[in-house]
Amino acid sequence: MNSVIITIDGKKIKTTKGETLVDVANKNGIYIPTLCYMKDKPCLGTCRVCSVKVNDYLISSCTVPVADGMVVEVENDKEGADMRKALIELLFVEGNHNCPSCEKSGRCELQAVGYETNMMVSRFPYRFPVNERDYASDNIWLERDRCIFCQRCVEFIKDKETNQKIFSISNRGSKSRIEIDIDLADKMSLEQVAEAADMCPVGCIINKNQGFNKAIGKRKFEIETVRERALNTQKNSKTT
Ligand code: SF4
Ligand code: SF4
Ligand code: FES
Repeated sequence: MNSVIITIDGKKIKTTKGETLVDVANKNGIYIPTLCYMKDKPCLGTCRVCSVKVNDYLISSCTVPVADGMVVEVENDKEGADMRKALIELLFVEGNHNCPSCEKSGRCELQAVGYETNMMVSRFPYRFPVNERDYASDNIWLERDRCIFCQRCVEFIKDKETNQKIFSISNRGSKSRIEIDIDLADKMSLEQVAEAADMCPVGCIINKNQGFNKAIGKRKFEIETVRERALNTQKNSKTT
C-alpha cells in the first residue's frame, strides 16, 4: 500500500508514502518556509528554516519522507513558528543585508520568507561582517556578505565539461566564505550564469550588467508572494 495518512495541524491528509513532508504540506495549503530546498533537486538540509514538529521532535521538513500516522505541527506550534523566525533573523544578522539597495530585492527568498514570518527586526545583535566582494569573473559579481551558505550553487552549478564545482565554501563557522573558481566561471554560458544568479536565494551571485533588470512592482515576489508560489507550485504538480 503506497498511500498513507498523516495529520498536519490537526488536518488528516491522505498522501503517498515517501513523499517529502514539505511538499505534502504545501500541496495541502500549509506553508512551510524554505531556503535551501529546491523541489526536484536532492535535498541539502543546510538552512533548517523548514523545521517543524514531527511526532514531537523538531525536524527539517525537506528531509523527511512522510510515513503513516505521522503527526506534524506547523502553525499550531507557536514555539516552532518562533524558532523558524529566529533562524531567519539569524541569517540577517550574520550577513550585511541592506535590502533597499540590493539588486535582489523583490526577488530574494530570504527577504520574502522574512516578510512571510512577519519579521520586523532581528532580536540578535548584528555582526556586520566584512567580506571582500569578488568581481574578477567576466559575468558574475559575488557579493559575499549576503551569502547564507545554502550550498545550492556549490552542489547544482557545475562545469558542463568536467562536472567540477565552480563555487565552494572555504573555512568554517563564522569564518565561512563563498568562493568562485574564476577560470571555470568564465567558461559558463550566459544561460548558466543566469541560472546560478536565479538559483541563489539571496543577492550573492549577481549577473553582471543585469543587477536591477526587473521594474519595481514586477519583481518575482511582488507578483506572487513566496507563500503563494510554494503553494501554487505544489497545487499545479498535484498528483494525489
Ligand atoms: S540578499 Fe535579500 S535579504 Fe539580503 S539585502 Fe538583498 S534583498 Fe535584502
Ligand atoms: S552564493 Fe547563494 S547559492 Fe551559493 S551558497 Fe551562497 S547563498 Fe547559497
Ligand atoms: S529548506 Fe529544509 S533545511 Fe533548508
